[in-house]
Amino acid sequence: MSGSAHKKRLAILISGRGSNMRALLDAVYNPLAPVPVTTAEVVAVISNRADAAGLGIAQQFGVATINHPSQGVARDVYDAELHRILTDLRVDLVCLAGFMRILSEKLVLDWAGKMVNIHPSLLPNYKGLDTHARVLANGGVEHGCTTHFVTPGMDEGPIILQAACPVLPGDTPDTLGGRVLALEHQIYPETVQLFCQDRLRIKNGRVEILDLPAVKN
Ligand code: GAR
Repeated sequence: MSGSAHKKRLAILISGRGSNMRALLDAVYNPLAPVPVTTAEVVAVISNRADAAGLGIAQQFGVATINHPSQGVARDVYDAELHRILTDLRVDLVCLAGFMRILSEKLVLDWAGKMVNIHPSLLPNYKGLDTHARVLANGGVEHGCTTHFVTPGMDEGPIILQAACPVLPGDTPDTLGGRVLALEHQIYPETVQLFCQDRLRIKNGRVEILDLPAVKN
């Protein structure tokens, strides 16, 4: 079976409210979604926190949820078990969606080219936390979000898609963050759809987006 002939098996990793996860589930399971993901199934939503609100949303979609708590667990032990879960599920793509835990180098390398993340800034600017407040504190005029392949350096992997918005007078971290979040919900499904269409290639550390193959009559 060729890479594009079967539905890609997605796992979505969350820690909290799960709005990006919801956008991905909607894209996969609602054909009327703004950016449908046409050749994928979500085989599990995995949370490192039992109280993550996103788990309930995933259950409403009828998607299997896995509670894999991380508190007090050594990183290598946690990640080895996570690797086993993902491997047993025959996952094609791991989508980090607000998964607020640093992954070990080994796990990241094991899933190289098969793990993507969304980050609320225009990388390489504003890696790390509290991006909206830092943009405002710096008097930034533009902000946005980025999807990227995950590599061992935090928020450093090859960039797939970005979307930008203006910083408006009177913005607070919440108003600016809301504007960015709406963009996140667009570019994450677009990113996953590109992956599922086998249209993403990493060449010399950069992502190339391939055209769709021409339809043969
Ligand atoms: C999102 O804004 C996502 O970009 C960010 O956490 C939020 C999760 O929200 N991720 C990071 O900061 C990772 N570095 P969500 O749970 O509603 O999707």
